[in-house]
Amino acid sequence: MKNSTKSGHSAFAEDVDKGLSADPKYLSSKYFYDDEGSRLFREIMKLPEYYLTRSEMEIFTEQGPEIFEAFGRNSDPFDLIELGAGDGIKTAVLVEHLIDEGADFRFVPIDISSEAIDSLTGGFHKRFPSLRIEPETGDYFARLETFREKSDRRKIILFLGSNIGNFSREQAVGFFRDLRDVVNTGDRVLIGFDLHKNPRTILNAYDDSLGVTPKFNLNLLKRINRELGGDFDPDKFIHYASYHPIERAARSFLISDEDQTVRIEALGKEYRFRQWEPIFMEISQKYDLQMIEELASESGFEIVRNFFDGNRFYADSMWKPSA
Ligand code: AVJ
Repeated sequence: MKNSTKSGHSAFAEDVDKGLSADPKYLSSKYFYDDEGSRLFREIMKLPEYYLTRSEMEIFTEQGPEIFEAFGRNSDPFDLIELGAGDGIKTAVLVEHLIDEGADFRFVPIDISSEAIDSLTGGFHKRFPSLRIEPETGDYFARLETFREKSDRRKIILFLGSNIGNFSREQAVGFFRDLRDVVNTGDRVLIGFDLHKNPRTILNAYDDSLGVTPKFNLNLLKRINRELGGDFDPDKFIHYASYHPIERAARSFLISDEDQTVRIEALGKEYRFRQWEPIFMEISQKYDLQMIEELASESGFEIVRNFFDGNRFYADSMWKPSA
């Protein structure tokens, strides 16, 4: 059975059991992105309050040539590898600049959602008919090891959208160290970091007026119903978002609005929820420049250059492995 673990359950089932048996309860936001969750996230990116996407888009629109220059060794061919590519709309802007500059590269988008990868690939083929695209569907954590084999060409690895914000500090350092192990001297990593700013601006991005973010969170309960035979009633959970300005962390929770029991068939178990009991769903960490520098140096990288939007809401940080 694909993805199955010692217990015979899928990794998803096992993680759900672990999280819902813990106190306090939690679920991992990495499971948000089934096809429906990826669709809801595309809606979030269009929300007026969700400034992250527009900030990164501005950086790519206005600083394409500078970003290409910071790749270094400009005439060498390279693989442009994007971890968690999603719809690739921002990346298309960067790719367009690279093509204009005459860069010799292949594009390797990796995403967990096959629907997202198919639509990205279709769109890119249309817009850039001569671009070589080698799309991959899957978990990019699992893909890292295979990058070593592609070592005949330089690698430029993109990890955009402040996806890193979903990791705890320890997880982030662990991830970057794993990345350090598979890159060579000439390779570059470009990472999107959402910066700290007016806390209300941040909170609003995770507490939108149209209620798309609650749907995005509740979709994980529905996914448990769909894939694991759960009987969650999403109407019995409310979404709650917070921002903690000292920790610089936005967090979201689903909170049971009554005493209830949820059965999950695939696990053969019931889970008890007390009234107002929270499930911790997601952390979206924000950063300042010192935090970014520390993350880089603790994981064996150094910063080549940071690219900011006009508001300084967001940074794309270009790293190279330190000598
Ligand atoms: C895709 C992880 C960057 O944390 O801002 C958006 C996901 N969650 N709204 C983020 C998300 C709620 C997003 N990332």
